[in-house]
Amino acid sequence: MACDRKASISFGAAAAAFLLSLTACGVGEPAMNEVVRSDFGTTPEGEVVEQFTLKNRAGMEVRAITYGGIITHLLVPDRGGNMGDVVLGFDSLEPYLSGVEPYLDGSPYFGSIIGRYGNRIANGRFTLDGRTYQLATNDGPNHLHGGVRGFDKVVWGAEPFQRDSEVGVVFTYLSPDGEEGYPGNLDVRVTYTLTDDNQLIVDYHATSDRATPVNLTQHSYFNLAGHDSGDILDHELMIAAGAFTPVNSTLIPTGEIRSVAGTPFDFRTSTPIGARIDADDQQIRYGLGYDHNWVLDRTGPGLELAARVVEPTTGRTLEILTTEPGIQFYAGNFLDGTITGKDGTVYHHRTGFCLETQHFPDSPNQPAFPSTILRPGEEYRTQTVMVFGVAD
Ligand code: BGC
Repeated sequence: MACDRKASISFGAAAAAFLLSLTACGVGEPAMNEVVRSDFGTTPEGEVVEQFTLKNRAGMEVRAITYGGIITHLLVPDRGGNMGDVVLGFDSLEPYLSGVEPYLDGSPYFGSIIGRYGNRIANGRFTLDGRTYQLATNDGPNHLHGGVRGFDKVVWGAEPFQRDSEVGVVFTYLSPDGEEGYPGNLDVRVTYTLTDDNQLIVDYHATSDRATPVNLTQHSYFNLAGHDSGDILDHELMIAAGAFTPVNSTLIPTGEIRSVAGTPFDFRTSTPIGARIDADDQQIRYGLGYDHNWVLDRTGPGLELAARVVEPTTGRTLEILTTEPGIQFYAGNFLDGTITGKDGTVYHHRTGFCLETQHFPDSPNQPAFPSTILRPGEEYRTQTVMVFGVAD
């Protein structure tokens, strides 16, 4: 059978839809890669928020919006080929907007890009080149996920792209000097690339005109059985880490790098998330379950496997590869049934988990941790890849 390959662009009047498509042939696959651009709503300040729907030839679909670079939907096949939406989120813009402070009244960072600093900075304070900076304290005494209005709550610029076997969107944001208390104008670019072999590649890039801490991550809450299918405790998790960073009661690292051996934090062998999540352990008590940074077993600076998750009933798998030194595994301990998400789904306790690739929490105050300081003339460049598949 002859294959007809053609790229096409079309504009739909309603919602200013913009379709970029590539047709191709493949047995049992849709004939098209595409990026569809549509309206998702308007912020109270009058900014228009767009949604980009990325589809690959295998039928996998990722939807992301310009507000916070939020991944709202992520559809992947199970072992029977049935598509399921495996991320928690909302159907419309409004619930994403309301979660400023306290965040549990709105979105707890569902699907967002997190910055300038993913995770916590103790007392929202750090000293850099002899000067002390005070950031917002939006998580008890500490600064969390970039502050009151972090990168998850701003509207990003966006450009879609389509190449041979991948489609994607480039999100851009210029964070002005002093925003949320951080020094320097920070020029940020985050690219989502969906490949035809069901990989979602996230590339982070930033430059600054003054020294500043930077620690960007992606805060999707996964439930590989489907976002509406209950708790995630039976998911089997492997984390390629022989150590983690224990925390104090406010979830700030003590500075210790502790071996996972003999603790509920040992996920070097694949283990159900629920097996030890309520163990009688001080660190588990502090996190109300898992909410910690693992120190990845790295062999070099490149992309390496950090975690692997298998959902036994659907067979769906997720592998996370990263160039980062750490990963925060958060088991959705703060979800408590007060949030109603997509399709009227109530998100109860531990119905989603996050695997946030990152530098370690509170690094600006922890000289022994890998540095998170970006200086003028340097480039911040990290990559994280989510590989979706099915187990036998
Ligand atoms: C943190 C949790 C926090 C959650 C917000 C995670 O990255 O580690 O402590 O509650 O984000 O939803």
